Parts: sequence; structure tokens; C-alpha cells
Amino acid sequence: MVSMNDIFKIEGLSGKQTLSGEIPVHGSKNAALIGLPAALLFTDKVTLTNVPEIEDVHWMTELMKYIGIDVRKKERGVYEVSTSEKISCKLDSDIVRKIRASMFLVGPLLARFGEVQFTYPGGDGIGGRPIELTLTGLEKMGATCEYDDNTYTLKLKEGKLSGADIFLRIPSVGATQILMLSGVFAEGTTTIKNAAMEPEIENIAEFLNACGAKISGVGTTTITIVGTGPLSASGKRLEIIPDRLETGSFLVLGVLAGKDITITNCNPDHVGIFTHLLKDITSSEITVGKNTINIKNSKPLTVLPRIIKTHEYPGFVTDMQSAFVVLFTQAEGKSLVFETIYEERFNYVGNLIQMGAKIVTYDPHRIRIHGKTELSGAVKTSPDIRAGLAYILAAIIAKGESIIHNGYVIDRGYEAIEDRLSAVGVSIERISS
Ligand code: EPU
Repeated sequence: MVSMNDIFKIEGLSGKQTLSGEIPVHGSKNAALIGLPAALLFTDKVTLTNVPEIEDVHWMTELMKYIGIDVRKKERGVYEVSTSEKISCKLDSDIVRKIRASMFLVGPLLARFGEVQFTYPGGDGIGGRPIELTLTGLEKMGATCEYDDNTYTLKLKEGKLSGADIFLRIPSVGATQILMLSGVFAEGTTTIKNAAMEPEIENIAEFLNACGAKISGVGTTTITIVGTGPLSASGKRLEIIPDRLETGSFLVLGVLAGKDITITNCNPDHVGIFTHLLKDITSSEITVGKNTINIKNSKPLTVLPRIIKTHEYPGFVTDMQSAFVVLFTQAEGKSLVFETIYEERFNYVGNLIQMGAKIVTYDPHRIRIHGKTELSGAVKTSPDIRAGLAYILAAIIAKGESIIHNGYVIDRGYEAIEDRLSAVGVSIERISS
């Protein structure tokens, strides 16, 4: 556990491209956050490997322990989960307020144990994060939902969920995952149309199928689940995929400040949108291997301006727009970033302006960046995981020293980021109080 008050101190490179060496990608935050709840569908022990040691995983495991699930960390990145029949179906509201992913327990708890109670989930302050798609989907599958005294109570009407035909208004990652897990325990067939296609969903579905589930269509917009009931891992392990958002962040780092950086332990297929774009608009030489991506800058960096519109996977993921806004401060000309998913995800822009960026905000969804601008070090507080990473990138290319408060927020998504950045030559220090 890290302290809420940890600070990162970074000495900027003043635009020099000097970083070199290997930077490894850890397991995916968002896959681990659905992989752990998925273990509730099993009658025997499930072992997860390559789990990132980050704050959100810590809180998810605490929440699971709170309701009586046996979660044990065997070694770094390896967790064992066993679910007995004696558990409480009321989620701890303090932890639920910390992580949005606490919602992912709702489906398995309801489907297997017939009831679940929880308060409205918290998480990053990046805009409204409704849960109605999950609630209406579960209602279609035969659940009742009551809201009283700030608490949702979901119960099974007929003692079992039943398969349903669900059309999501938006391809919500959370709703797709929760309904998919619930469908495993439902009687009959559940179809999710306009489903999310994120690789994390595929990671979990493949494991569930290897253990007896009947899920098809994952990775397309229609997922079909034939209910099978409880699953058995029989010693099989769920290996969490590499984090594509870490990979994307390190790609932008390599372009901005790398001399010769190799990103290792990654899956380049999951970041195709970024490698293609960066090859098109920057002077960096990007070479994609099987599990590696190498970025070389043998001449001074040039970046072309572009219009970017965030989109569900495999489009330009919202979680990476802040890193690209930092990149566009180094482009000659005007770039436009259109954030289509969240209405408060430009919450970091004011701080980049104070560091020297020229950014015009049109409305909560659209900004224009005028480059190229030199950035200078500053003292900043990070509002969410991805904004925090953008400050780190900005601080690395800036002139002078930067202090980033609220390092805890960055630790929610990036494991010991300072160790990996130091190893490639970034002057970064964690100051714990
Ligand atoms: N939405 C609704 N109604 C719903 C659910 C979602 O309107 O019932 C809307 C949301 O308001 C939002 C959009 O749908 O505008 C997408 O939300 P989604 O449900 O897909 O997001 P999520 O499952 O809450 C996951 C990731 C986020 C990532 C989004 C979008 C996890 C733990 N979180 O959130 O990751 O931004 O998908 O890709 O998987 C991050 O890693 O920094 C992060 C915030």
C-alpha cells in the first residue's frame, strides 16, 4: 500500500530525447479487475497470474475479502481465489466509493447467490458514470431492483436468472462484462448486442470457455452466452494480458523523449491504432515485434497535427487521449481532440496550459492544441489516473523540475511507475510522507 500523500518529483529533459533501454509492461488493470470477480463463478480455486500490483487491484481484493471470499496473494502478481457458499452479498460502501470496478462483482454475486446490495460506485472523476445499462440488463434477465436509503438491492425473481436478448444503447465495457458473467449462470441463452469489443473481455471469456462456459462472439458486437452454471478451473490459470494502456503510454513516452526505447512484455496487436498513428505523424522510427515495440529517434522529433476522436475499441481509446494531447503540444500546427466518451476528461488541460501549452477549450468534449510549445516544470495535483500519466509525460519533456501531488492516483493504474521510468533514464523520485 502506498500513502495517499506520495509525491513524484521529476527533473525535465528540456525536450532532449535521451531515454534508452527496456521498459516492461505489466498486467492489464482492467482485465484483472474483471478477472478477479469472474472467479466467483467457480466452485474450485482459481489462480490468476500477471496481476498488476496496483491500488485498484488492492481495493478489489479487499472488497472481495470483506464479503467472505478467500483471496490470497501467493507471490508478486499471482492470486488465488476460492469462493465458498458462505458469503455476504452486501458490498462495503467505503470501498465501492473508491473503485468503479466494484460493480463487476454485482453480476456474479446476483447470479450465483441470488442477491446483492451496493451503493453507487465511485472511481475517477471523469464525468457521469451511470449504471442503468447493467441494471436494466439484469432486470431483463429476471432480477428485481430496488433503491432505498442510497442502496441498490438486486434479487432474483424466480430463483435463477434466465437468458435474455439485450441491446446495449452504448457498447459499455462494464455492462458487457457484468451481463456476460451473469449469463454463465442464467438458464437458457443470453445475447448481448452492441457489446463492447475490448481485449480484456476476450481475455476473461477465453478462460471461462476453457473451464466449461459457452460464450461466443467475443471481440465482435454480438456476444452469446449459453448458460451452463458453475465452472471448474481444475488447476487452469487465468493469465492476465499485458496492459494496452501502459503500452500506449510508453509509446508516447518513447516518441517524445526516447533515443532508443524498447517496450517489452506487450501485445502490439492491442495498440494497433497508436502504432499506426504514430508512424504516420511522427519522425520516430517504430518497429513492432511479437511482444515488443522499439522506438528510435535518430533525428530531432517532428510531429504532425491531427484530428482525434475517441471511440470504443478498436478505435482511439479515451484512456489515451491525455497522453496524445501532451504529444500534440509538440506538433507544428493545430490539432483537435474530440472526447466522445466522458464529459470531464479534459480536467487536466488547465494544468498543461500553466506549463506553457496553448490549448483552447471549445466545450466539455472538444479542445484545440496549438503547437509547438515548450513546456516548463510546475507543481500539479493529478485528478485521475490518465491525467496523472499525462503530467508525468509533460514533466519529462519540460524544462526544470515538476512536482506531482496525489501520486496515489497514478498508483491506481501504473505499478511502481518510478522504477520503470528511472530504468530508462528519467530523473524521477517518489517522496513518501
Ligand atoms: N454508460 C452509460 N450507462 C451505463 C454505463 C455506461 O451511459 O450504464 C456510458 C458512460 O457514461 C460512458 C460510456 O458509457 O460515457 C462508457 O462507459 P463504460 O461502461 O464502457 O466504462 P466502464 O466500464 O465504467 C471501463 C474502464 C475505463 C474506460 C472505459 C471506457 C474498467 C475498470 N474501466 O470503464 O477505464 O475508460 O471502460 O473504455 O474497465 C481507466 O482505465 O483509466 C478507465 C477509466
